[in-house]
Amino acid sequence: MSDQQLRVSKIEDGTVIDHITGGQALNVLTILEITGRAGVPVSVVMHVPSDHLSTKDIVKIEGRELSEAEVDVLSLIAPSATINIIRDYEVVDKRRVTRPDRVIGVLHCPNPNCISTKDEPVESNFEVLDDAVRCAYCDTIVRDDIAALIDDA
Ligand code: CTP
Ligand code: ZN
Repeated sequence: MSDQQLRVSKIEDGTVIDHITGGQALNVLTILEITGRAGVPVSVVMHVPSDHLSTKDIVKIEGRELSEAEVDVLSLIAPSATINIIRDYEVVDKRRVTRPDRVIGVLHCPNPNCISTKDEPVESNFEVLDDAVRCAYCDTIVRDDIAALIDDA
């Protein structure tokens, strides 16, 4: 991207999540529990043209290097996302998100009778299948719009 097209400046240290499916940036922030209240500088760019996607979102988080376990959950809503770790303005690590086997405490089961949606101290627990997720408690399978299951989304 030329300087003329650069919408948000480069960051010195932190994590850039690039190639996020267009429109999913706010769900990415929710999953990462970035509320905007902690005072960490966060830049969000939405619906910019992309080479491989029709449009993409970008999230830049300064001063924080995200762990693999944290970011792999993002594969459910942003399968093409790349994670760039930035140190001293340089990209020192770039990798794709990979589908985890299981996601705990991130999604909300759509079944109102599921134990994980009751007032019990039970964290949600979904098994990740090839094209869907399945609740470990009630076996409900969700194939489309997994983003709608994100807590507080
Ligand atoms: N970036 C940033 N601050 C830096 C370095 C990079 O915000 N100091 C951002 C870039 O704007 C880009 C992403 O991190 O969104 C990846 O940077 P880079 O690998 O240089 O870009 P590309 O080669 O275009 O990445 P890709 O091949 O993954 O599309
Ligand atoms: Zn359930």
